Amino acid sequence: MGISEERIIIDGTDGAFLDRDENGLFLGCGDQKIRGDFSKMVRRIKQANLERELLIKASRIKGHNDGLTAVDATAGLGEDSLLLAAAGFCVTLYEKDPVIAALLEDAMNRAKNIPELSQTVSRMTLIKEDSISAMRSLDIHPDVILLDPMFPERQKSALVGKKFQLIHLLEKPCEDETELLNAAVMAHPRKIIIKRPLKGTWLGGRKPDYSINGKAIRYDCIVMPPV
Ligand SMILES: C[S@@+](CC[C@H](N)C(=O)[O-])C[C@H]1O[C@@H](n2cnc3c(N)ncnc32)[C@H](O)[C@@H]1O
Repeated sequence: MGISEERIIIDGTDGAFLDRDENGLFLGCGDQKIRGDFSKMVRRIKQANLERELLIKASRIKGHNDGLTAVDATAGLGEDSLLLAAAGFCVTLYEKDPVIAALLEDAMNRAKNIPELSQTVSRMTLIKEDSISAMRSLDIHPDVILLDPMFPERQKSALVGKKFQLIHLLEKPCEDETELLNAAVMAHPRKIIIKRPLKGTWLGGRKPDYSINGKAIRYDCIVMPPV
Protein backbone atom coordinates (compact mmCIF):
# COMPACT_ATOMS: atom_id res chain seq x y z
CA MET A 1 0.00 0.00 0.00
CA GLY A 2 1.30 3.51 -0.80
CA ILE A 3 0.02 6.42 1.28
CA SER A 4 -1.25 9.65 -0.33
CA GLU A 5 -2.21 12.74 1.64
CA GLU A 6 -5.91 11.90 2.08
CA ARG A 7 -6.22 8.25 1.40
CA ILE A 8 -4.34 4.99 1.16
CA ILE A 9 -3.80 4.01 -2.47
CA ILE A 10 -3.59 0.24 -2.88
CA ASP A 11 -0.62 -0.94 -4.91
CA GLY A 12 -1.23 -3.44 -7.69
CA THR A 13 -4.81 -2.30 -8.31
CA ASP A 14 -6.32 -0.02 -10.93
CA GLY A 15 -6.64 3.00 -8.62
CA ALA A 16 -8.38 1.37 -5.66
CA PHE A 17 -8.01 3.15 -2.34
CA LEU A 18 -8.98 2.96 1.31
CA ASP A 19 -10.66 6.04 2.74
CA ARG A 20 -13.04 7.05 5.50
CA ASP A 21 -16.35 8.92 5.37
CA GLU A 22 -19.09 9.58 7.92
CA ASN A 23 -20.12 5.90 7.70
CA GLY A 24 -16.64 4.51 8.37
CA LEU A 25 -13.79 2.99 6.40
CA PHE A 26 -14.43 2.02 2.78
CA LEU A 27 -12.66 0.58 -0.23
CA GLY A 28 -13.18 2.77 -3.27
CA CYS A 29 -12.50 2.52 -6.98
CA GLY A 30 -13.93 5.09 -9.41
CA ASP A 31 -17.43 5.77 -8.11
CA GLN A 32 -17.76 2.37 -6.42
CA LYS A 33 -17.46 1.96 -2.67
CA ILE A 34 -17.64 -1.06 -0.45
CA ARG A 35 -17.34 -1.40 3.26
CA GLY A 36 -18.03 -4.02 5.87
CA ASP A 37 -21.54 -3.38 7.17
CA PHE A 38 -23.25 -5.61 9.71
CA SER A 39 -26.21 -3.25 10.20
CA LYS A 40 -27.87 -4.74 7.10
CA MET A 41 -27.67 -8.17 8.81
CA VAL A 42 -29.89 -7.24 11.79
CA ARG A 43 -32.99 -8.96 10.34
CA ARG A 44 -31.06 -12.01 9.20
CA ILE A 45 -29.74 -12.71 12.68
CA LYS A 46 -33.15 -12.62 14.38
CA GLN A 47 -33.68 -16.09 15.86
CA ALA A 48 -36.52 -17.20 13.54
CA ASN A 49 -34.60 -16.11 10.43
CA LEU A 50 -31.31 -17.50 11.64
CA GLU A 51 -32.73 -21.01 11.86
CA ARG A 52 -33.43 -20.89 8.12
CA GLU A 53 -29.82 -20.01 7.24
CA LEU A 54 -28.11 -22.93 5.50
CA LEU A 55 -24.84 -22.18 7.30
CA ILE A 56 -26.57 -22.49 10.66
CA LYS A 57 -28.19 -25.77 9.60
CA ALA A 58 -24.75 -26.98 8.48
CA SER A 59 -23.14 -25.93 11.77
CA ARG A 60 -25.39 -28.05 14.01
CA ILE A 61 -23.59 -30.70 16.01
CA LYS A 62 -25.73 -33.37 17.61
CA GLY A 63 -25.59 -33.25 21.40
CA HIS A 64 -23.53 -30.05 21.50
CA ASN A 65 -25.36 -26.79 22.06
CA ASP A 66 -23.36 -24.88 24.65
CA GLY A 67 -20.00 -23.16 24.64
CA LEU A 68 -19.57 -23.75 20.92
CA THR A 69 -16.45 -22.47 19.19
CA ALA A 70 -15.81 -21.80 15.51
CA VAL A 71 -12.87 -20.75 13.40
CA ASP A 72 -13.69 -18.82 10.25
CA ALA A 73 -10.47 -19.42 8.33
CA THR A 74 -11.42 -17.14 5.41
CA ALA A 75 -13.28 -14.31 7.11
CA GLY A 76 -13.64 -11.78 4.26
CA LEU A 77 -16.09 -9.12 5.41
CA GLY A 78 -17.31 -11.37 8.22
CA GLU A 79 -20.95 -11.98 7.30
CA ASP A 80 -20.76 -15.75 7.76
CA SER A 81 -18.95 -15.25 11.07
CA LEU A 82 -21.71 -12.92 12.25
CA LEU A 83 -24.30 -15.63 11.52
CA LEU A 84 -22.29 -18.18 13.52
CA ALA A 85 -21.82 -15.74 16.40
CA ALA A 86 -25.55 -14.95 16.38
CA ALA A 87 -26.19 -18.69 16.67
CA GLY A 88 -24.09 -18.71 19.86
CA PHE A 89 -20.62 -19.66 18.61
CA CYS A 90 -17.52 -17.84 19.86
CA VAL A 91 -15.87 -17.21 16.51
CA THR A 92 -12.20 -16.59 15.76
CA LEU A 93 -11.92 -14.91 12.37
CA TYR A 94 -8.75 -15.09 10.29
CA GLU A 95 -8.27 -12.66 7.41
CA LYS A 96 -4.89 -12.50 5.69
CA ASP A 97 -5.50 -9.61 3.29
CA PRO A 98 -4.63 -6.38 5.16
CA VAL A 99 -7.17 -4.23 3.29
CA ILE A 100 -10.06 -6.64 3.80
CA ALA A 101 -8.98 -7.13 7.43
CA ALA A 102 -9.03 -3.34 7.97
CA LEU A 103 -12.57 -3.11 6.50
CA LEU A 104 -13.71 -6.02 8.67
CA GLU A 105 -12.19 -4.56 11.83
CA ASP A 106 -13.92 -1.24 11.17
CA ALA A 107 -17.27 -3.00 10.62
CA MET A 108 -16.84 -4.92 13.89
CA ASN A 109 -16.00 -1.74 15.80
CA ARG A 110 -19.07 0.05 14.43
CA ALA A 111 -21.29 -2.95 15.24
CA LYS A 112 -20.22 -2.77 18.90
CA ASN A 113 -22.24 0.46 19.11
CA ILE A 114 -25.40 -0.99 17.53
CA PRO A 115 -27.61 -2.44 20.31
CA GLU A 116 -29.00 -5.28 18.13
CA LEU A 117 -25.47 -6.37 17.19
CA SER A 118 -23.22 -5.57 20.12
CA GLN A 119 -23.70 -8.84 22.02
CA THR A 120 -23.22 -10.94 18.91
CA VAL A 121 -20.10 -9.08 17.80
CA SER A 122 -18.62 -9.46 21.29
CA ARG A 123 -18.32 -13.18 20.48
CA MET A 124 -16.13 -12.43 17.44
CA THR A 125 -12.33 -12.08 17.58
CA LEU A 126 -10.42 -11.00 14.50
CA ILE A 127 -6.88 -12.17 13.86
CA LYS A 128 -5.21 -10.52 10.87
CA GLU A 129 -3.15 -13.53 9.84
CA ASP A 130 -3.00 -16.40 7.43
CA SER A 131 -5.15 -19.16 8.87
CA ILE A 132 -3.16 -21.98 7.31
CA SER A 133 -0.23 -21.66 9.69
CA ALA A 134 -2.54 -20.64 12.58
CA MET A 135 -4.74 -23.74 12.25
CA ARG A 136 -1.68 -25.98 12.45
CA SER A 137 -1.03 -24.79 16.00
CA LEU A 138 -4.40 -23.93 17.59
CA ASP A 139 -4.67 -24.25 21.38
CA ILE A 140 -8.16 -25.76 21.18
CA HIS A 141 -10.06 -28.13 18.94
CA PRO A 142 -12.86 -25.90 17.66
CA ASP A 143 -16.31 -27.36 17.15
CA VAL A 144 -16.51 -25.97 13.62
CA ILE A 145 -14.06 -24.67 11.03
CA LEU A 146 -15.59 -22.73 8.15
CA LEU A 147 -13.73 -22.48 4.83
CA ASP A 148 -14.96 -20.12 2.12
CA PRO A 149 -12.01 -19.41 -0.16
CA MET A 150 -12.61 -17.46 -3.37
CA PHE A 151 -13.47 -19.85 -6.16
CA PRO A 152 -12.68 -19.22 -9.83
CA GLU A 153 -16.28 -19.95 -10.86
CA ARG A 154 -17.50 -17.02 -8.77
CA GLN A 155 -15.63 -14.61 -11.04
CA LYS A 156 -17.70 -15.63 -14.04
CA SER A 157 -20.96 -16.04 -12.20
CA ALA A 158 -23.92 -13.71 -12.41
CA LEU A 159 -23.66 -13.53 -8.63
CA VAL A 160 -20.57 -11.35 -8.85
CA GLY A 161 -21.69 -8.01 -7.52
CA LYS A 162 -20.06 -4.69 -6.90
CA LYS A 163 -18.65 -6.00 -3.64
CA PHE A 164 -16.91 -8.94 -5.23
CA GLN A 165 -15.64 -6.93 -8.23
CA LEU A 166 -13.81 -4.67 -5.81
CA ILE A 167 -12.62 -7.52 -3.62
CA HIS A 168 -11.29 -9.25 -6.73
CA LEU A 169 -9.02 -6.24 -7.22
CA LEU A 170 -7.22 -7.44 -4.11
CA GLU A 171 -7.82 -11.11 -3.77
CA LYS A 172 -6.94 -13.72 -6.34
CA PRO A 173 -8.81 -17.01 -6.36
CA CYS A 174 -7.39 -19.34 -3.73
CA GLU A 175 -4.39 -21.29 -4.98
CA ASP A 176 -3.70 -23.23 -1.81
CA GLU A 177 -7.07 -24.95 -1.38
CA THR A 178 -5.55 -28.32 -0.49
CA GLU A 179 -3.22 -26.75 2.08
CA LEU A 180 -6.16 -24.84 3.60
CA LEU A 181 -8.21 -28.03 3.90
CA ASN A 182 -5.27 -30.03 5.28
CA ALA A 183 -4.61 -27.37 7.93
CA ALA A 184 -8.30 -27.48 8.94
CA VAL A 185 -8.14 -31.29 9.22
CA MET A 186 -4.97 -30.98 11.35
CA ALA A 187 -6.84 -28.70 13.79
CA HIS A 188 -9.26 -31.59 14.58
CA PRO A 189 -12.58 -29.72 14.73
CA ARG A 190 -15.77 -31.73 15.11
CA LYS A 191 -16.88 -30.52 11.71
CA ILE A 192 -15.41 -28.71 8.69
CA ILE A 193 -17.93 -26.69 6.69
CA ILE A 194 -16.97 -25.62 3.18
CA LYS A 195 -18.96 -23.05 1.20
CA ARG A 196 -18.96 -23.79 -2.52
CA PRO A 197 -20.89 -22.72 -5.60
CA LEU A 198 -23.77 -25.14 -6.12
CA LYS A 199 -22.04 -26.90 -8.99
CA GLY A 200 -18.47 -26.28 -7.83
CA THR A 201 -15.88 -28.97 -7.33
CA TRP A 202 -15.10 -30.35 -3.87
CA LEU A 203 -12.47 -28.34 -2.04
CA GLY A 204 -9.11 -30.08 -2.40
CA GLY A 205 -10.93 -32.90 -4.23
CA ARG A 206 -12.17 -34.35 -0.90
CA LYS A 207 -15.67 -35.83 -0.92
CA PRO A 208 -17.73 -34.39 1.97
CA ASP A 209 -19.83 -36.60 4.26
CA TYR A 210 -22.92 -34.64 3.26
CA SER A 211 -23.93 -31.35 1.66
CA ILE A 212 -26.68 -28.83 2.26
CA ASN A 213 -27.74 -27.26 -1.02
CA GLY A 214 -29.16 -23.80 -1.62
CA LYS A 215 -30.13 -22.16 -4.91
CA ALA A 216 -26.65 -20.90 -5.80
CA ILE A 217 -24.36 -22.25 -3.13
CA ARG A 218 -23.93 -25.38 -1.07
CA TYR A 219 -22.26 -26.23 2.21
CA ASP A 220 -20.11 -29.36 2.13
CA CYS A 221 -19.72 -30.87 5.59
CA ILE A 222 -16.88 -33.11 6.70
CA VAL A 223 -17.58 -34.76 10.04
CA MET A 224 -14.31 -35.50 11.82
CA PRO A 225 -13.72 -38.49 14.08
CA PRO A 226 -13.43 -37.63 17.81
CA VAL A 227 -9.89 -36.74 18.92
C1 LIG B 1 -14.95 -15.42 -0.33
S1 LIG B 1 -14.17 -14.43 0.90
C2 LIG B 1 -15.01 -14.93 2.36
C3 LIG B 1 -16.35 -14.28 2.53
C4 LIG B 1 -16.90 -14.52 3.91
N1 LIG B 1 -17.31 -15.89 4.10
C5 LIG B 1 -18.04 -13.58 4.26
O1 LIG B 1 -19.07 -14.04 4.78
O2 LIG B 1 -17.92 -12.36 4.04
C6 LIG B 1 -12.61 -15.21 1.13
C7 LIG B 1 -11.68 -14.45 2.05
O3 LIG B 1 -10.75 -15.36 2.61
C8 LIG B 1 -9.50 -14.74 2.75
N2 LIG B 1 -8.51 -15.82 2.80
C9 LIG B 1 -8.22 -16.74 1.85
N3 LIG B 1 -7.29 -17.60 2.27
C10 LIG B 1 -6.99 -17.22 3.56
C11 LIG B 1 -6.09 -17.73 4.54
N4 LIG B 1 -5.30 -18.77 4.29
N5 LIG B 1 -6.03 -17.10 5.73
C12 LIG B 1 -6.82 -16.02 5.99
N6 LIG B 1 -7.68 -15.48 5.09
C13 LIG B 1 -7.77 -16.08 3.89
C14 LIG B 1 -9.41 -13.86 1.53
O4 LIG B 1 -8.48 -12.81 1.73
C15 LIG B 1 -10.84 -13.38 1.37
O5 LIG B 1 -11.04 -12.17 2.05
